[in-house]
Amino acid sequence: MPKVLQDKDGSETLTVKISPNDFWAHLAIPIDCSVKHVLPMKRSVRPLFGVLLVVVFIATLSIRTMVRRDLVSIELESRVLIQDSLPVLNATLLKYAATDIGEERSKQEIQQLLDGNFGSQARQRTFVSWRRFIHSDVGDKYSKNVPATLRSPFFHRYWLDFRKVLHDWARKKRFQPNIMSELTRLVKHSIDKHNGLVGSDERYLSCAVVGNSGILLNKDYGELIDSHEVVIRLNNARVGNFEKKVGSKTSISFVNSNILHLCARRAGCYCHPYGQNVPIVMYMCQPAHFLDYTVCNSSHKAPLLVTDPRFDVLCSRIVKYYSLKRFVEETGKPLEEWSSAHDGSLFHYSSGMQAVMLALGICDKVSIFGFGKSVSAKHHYHTNQKAELHLHDYEAEYQFYHDLVNGQRPIPFLSEKFKLPPVVMYQ
Ligand SMILES: *[C@@H]1O[C@H](CO)[C@@H](O)[C@H](O)[C@H]1NC(C)=O
Ligand SMILES: *[C@@H]1O[C@H](CO)[C@@H](O)[C@H](O)[C@H]1NC(C)=O
Repeated sequence: MPKVLQDKDGSETLTVKISPNDFWAHLAIPIDCSVKHVLPMKRSVRPLFGVLLVVVFIATLSIRTMVRRDLVSIELESRVLIQDSLPVLNATLLKYAATDIGEERSKQEIQQLLDGNFGSQARQRTFVSWRRFIHSDVGDKYSKNVPATLRSPFFHRYWLDFRKVLHDWARKKRFQPNIMSELTRLVKHSIDKHNGLVGSDERYLSCAVVGNSGILLNKDYGELIDSHEVVIRLNNARVGNFEKKVGSKTSISFVNSNILHLCARRAGCYCHPYGQNVPIVMYMCQPAHFLDYTVCNSSHKAPLLVTDPRFDVLCSRIVKYYSLKRFVEETGKPLEEWSSAHDGSLFHYSSGMQAVMLALGICDKVSIFGFGKSVSAKHHYHTNQKAELHLHDYEAEYQFYHDLVNGQRPIPFLSEKFKLPPVVMYQ
């Protein structure tokens, strides 16, 4: 019998239904909870309670049957391929996907940063570029010695900001699937205000998420892309000279923090290939990149928003679930070997995946362009990069988009209460 998963600290209770067909799994929740109440009850109350349970049981059963019948007829109408049973989430995979193998290391890294320890080489590099930026602003009057720079009054202001932002971010990092319903408040409100509107919970009517795949060059989707209320572009991909293929409008620039890290080396943190007024939404690949964020935030006219860490955790789990599933199905190897095949703790969802997730939260309709690959197409439409990065599992992400397009539920870790907007994928 499938189990309901529950993490030790209670904050991460998974209310994922293991199998829509299996009413025992469904009933596991009320029975587990009621056991505690039944024991101390008086004898006279017990039979009554038993009858109540049976009534609840039958009611649940009949409602589920009705819902199922509706689902089947909806599926028939939309001519979606009907399978014998609805898809089932695998409890082992759910549990595995919920384990963050990089967590301990990441906590240590954050603590070191908060303590002012820029030990590792990568962080040293971040720091050096940050120092260069500050020097270009205030002249080279500070010592090249890192601790001395840390103590300088100019630096100190950023240092305090950095610690505060990083600290708040780290504290919020946990699993909370309801975060999907908060994206309008977290992201859209700031953007609305920036555009001179009152922040509203109404979703955008339509959004286009434009990936950077070379398949965009095979079609002329430019006009169609620009016809959406909101166009989300990824990682500062160039649109100049490609307008016919990729459109020219950009409403949100979605980037990973490596991109801002590169921008931070330029004068004034220049990071606006789509214009200074386009809001940036960024996810943090490395906590050290908060250095770039604190320095660049004040120089940006349009909002520079960091994705909520709870949203990051949700995206990570979903992609990891699909990746694990694909791994065991395609290789037949045990789950334990997944980690070495996907760079273990470095494994990460792609920017595109999180941009699609963002669109699901803030848009009534979502169109996806430039995701996917073909042998005849370049990896990126705008670069000559050949290989895909190993730490992403694009195939697993395509499977996720495929489920979105087919309206296939359940999606692992996504609350059933969250209403998914219709998704169309253009290839
Ligand atoms: C869930 O996945 C694990 C790992 O691949 C597998 O061993 C197990 O049989 C699966 N369980 C079900 C019910 O399919
Ligand atoms: C970033 O800048 C905006 C606008 O200047 C400001 O409202 C916001 O508080 C800043 N964020 C942080 C974390 O400092």
